[in-house]
Amino acid sequence: MSSSLPPTGAFIVFEGGEGSGKSTQIARLAHFLSAQEFTVVTTREPGGTAVGQLIRNVLLDPATGDLSPRTEALLYAADRAEHVHAVITPALSAGSVVLSDRYVDSSLAYQGAGRQLKVDDVALLSSWATQSLVPDLTIVLDIDPRIGLSRFEGADRLEALSLGFHDRVRQGFLDLAGREPSRYLVVDATQSSDAIEADISTRVLHVLQDRP
Ligand code: TYD
Repeated sequence: MSSSLPPTGAFIVFEGGEGSGKSTQIARLAHFLSAQEFTVVTTREPGGTAVGQLIRNVLLDPATGDLSPRTEALLYAADRAEHVHAVITPALSAGSVVLSDRYVDSSLAYQGAGRQLKVDDVALLSSWATQSLVPDLTIVLDIDPRIGLSRFEGADRLEALSLGFHDRVRQGFLDLAGREPSRYLVVDATQSSDAIEADISTRVLHVLQDRP
């Protein structure tokens, strides 16, 4: 007789500063997991839904100019609420492994540590937006912003901010990971892509094996 247990998905998030190589590693992990017969859904913030794409344009277009940090935090939270509702929760319910390029910790690091809003306020906002959905694992690709920012030309509205801002963002991610090591993996993003992929896939397989 087949099991009547509902499938359990897993929610894995990639975080990190600009130029930390998240997209490459997400593509590699998706490929690796698909080859092991997992159903994988890759998505991102901001912009993982149709309305999120519109919000993303407002947030990242340099033509938007200065926004109040509170407005910025609310727009990221709105994008996230729709993302969780329309993409992440349905995929998890269907038993998929969801890989998201950024999630709540980006708001804590960029709008909290970076823009210097109260981190607890930003956390409350995100927790309301997500109905408290917490990732099974968050992978932080850690890189000095002096190296990360030099990896591409041209800058969107946030990339163009000062090094001091990006240093605070980096420290914001490291602080979050340091507080809850069992739910985080911090990877040195200056290693080779192969070495980074090996660290990530080993830890992710552990997380997937430990699922109920
Ligand atoms: P994106 O082009 O997706 O950059 P990256 O490849 O670095 O993820 O731009 C997303 C930008 O939005 C990035 O600068 C981080 C920022 N961001 C926040 O400030 N707060 C948030 O909550 C999220 C999700 C992203």
